[in-house]
Amino acid sequence: MEKFIKVAELKSRLSELRKDKTVGFVPTMGALHQGHLSLVRQCRSMCDITVVSIFVNPTQFTDKEDYRRYPRTLEADGEILEHAGCDIVFAPAEEEIYPEKDERIFDFGELDKVMEGKFRPGHFNGVAQVVSRLFDIVNPDKSFFGQKDFQQVSIIKNMVRQLNLTTETVVCPIVREQSGLAMSSRNMLLTEIQRKEAAKISGALFYIKEQAVTTPVNEVRDEAIRRINSSPELEVEYLEIVDANTLQPVSGWDEAAEIFVCTAVHAGKIRLIDNVQLK
Ligand code: PAF
Repeated sequence: MEKFIKVAELKSRLSELRKDKTVGFVPTMGALHQGHLSLVRQCRSMCDITVVSIFVNPTQFTDKEDYRRYPRTLEADGEILEHAGCDIVFAPAEEEIYPEKDERIFDFGELDKVMEGKFRPGHFNGVAQVVSRLFDIVNPDKSFFGQKDFQQVSIIKNMVRQLNLTTETVVCPIVREQSGLAMSSRNMLLTEIQRKEAAKISGALFYIKEQAVTTPVNEVRDEAIRRINSSPELEVEYLEIVDANTLQPVSGWDEAAEIFVCTAVHAGKIRLIDNVQLK
């Protein structure tokens, strides 16, 4: 596995490789877990070269404390990627990604006004800044994102269209712990009891899936919120049942062809997100 920290060196290496190979890209913020490894596996199966970036992007954090606390495990991540068969790891310093302050403001219409966008204003603008910059550096044929960040996937697909990029966005399914808890780098910050209780989040979402279409939307939504909040360790920030295309809440099961439930839940200071396709 080759390691790069400088943009110019990575670009020059990739331009050699791209002559006769396809390049796949998995952007990450490190603290790698099985969810990331499933993206790496998918990338390896579809592309000749797998590039993984590790960069904790300051512009997407709306809370300084969350940025400071975000787990950084670069050495362990390198070993994990080596074993996973990654070809190139790119772990730049902040100045490499943002030699100048990125002042770009993206317009995502209603897509970033709801859910994560509503509770973390500016978050998706930061995601779009860093992902567009990384796409510009890596110029991947295909890029791989996890379904866990459901709204992020919509934003990135929209950004790819807006910027006329040619990379194909491949979305990979959520990987769950045995308890059902969606894998996340933030899980390692949970206490033992929080981690156990956090299984109630996916429990509530799968409860909605069982009830979908037969029970009114508001009724199942309220019951799912009640189930999560019944744990003294958890507090729902939002739980929305939405049209998968517009991300706007639906009030009836026939209002959209594809419907998802998405939630963000606080477990103490740690914020967890999850989603399940209902229809
Ligand atoms: O999903 C993430 O880990 C991040 O939002 C991403 C896509 C790597 C951008 O920093």
